[in-house]
Amino acid sequence: VCIRKATMDDLLAMQACNLLCLPENYQMKYYLYHILSWPQLLYVAEDYNGRIAGYVLAKMDEESNECHGHITSLSVLRTHRKLGLATKHMSAAQAAMEQVFGAEYVSLHVRKSNRAAFNLYTQTLGYKIHDVEAKYYADGEDAYDMRKQLKAKQ
Ligand code: ACO
Repeated sequence: VCIRKATMDDLLAMQACNLLCLPENYQMKYYLYHILSWPQLLYVAEDYNGRIAGYVLAKMDEESNECHGHITSLSVLRTHRKLGLATKHMSAAQAAMEQVFGAEYVSLHVRKSNRAAFNLYTQTLGYKIHDVEAKYYADGEDAYDMRKQLKAKQ
């Protein structure tokens, strides 16, 4: 399995992976918006059969005054989990946010009950809980608003 930058040809497979893995789904125009705006921040895992086994979809937040990246969505097919692929996707996106866009930090939302993702973010990647957003998800579950500092503040 290799991790590489996503191309336009990967977007349908990324959307299919998202539909299989997460209840938060997006229209194709949202994937297009990401790849057209921040092509450096989308990665996929391609297995030996050419199948897309995981992706990360990320963006830069242009509204707030502190330049930062945001992980919109991350998932890995069940058949390919616990192989370090999510860690590699996240490391690639974080490095590009810092090197290409000069991001100070990276943020994301995760369900309080999502133990696998929470462990990935806190234990493996060094994210901290920044805030809790009550009823963030459509079904009423709370989100942890998590952040990881990318470079020392000036
Ligand atoms: N239980 C507990 N901890 C886990 C689990 C699990 N099932 N899976 C991963 N972790 C943690 C562990 O700390 C692990 O480190 P270890 O292997 O040393 O124990 C660490 O995460 C790294 O694991 P990876 O192999 O890199 O993760 P993987 O490729 O399996 O993907 C992911 C993890 C993305 C959470 C996967 O389980 C998945 O796709 N889940 C469904 C979709 C999802 O929840 N996506 C994240 C939503 S939040 C967002 O998109 C911003």
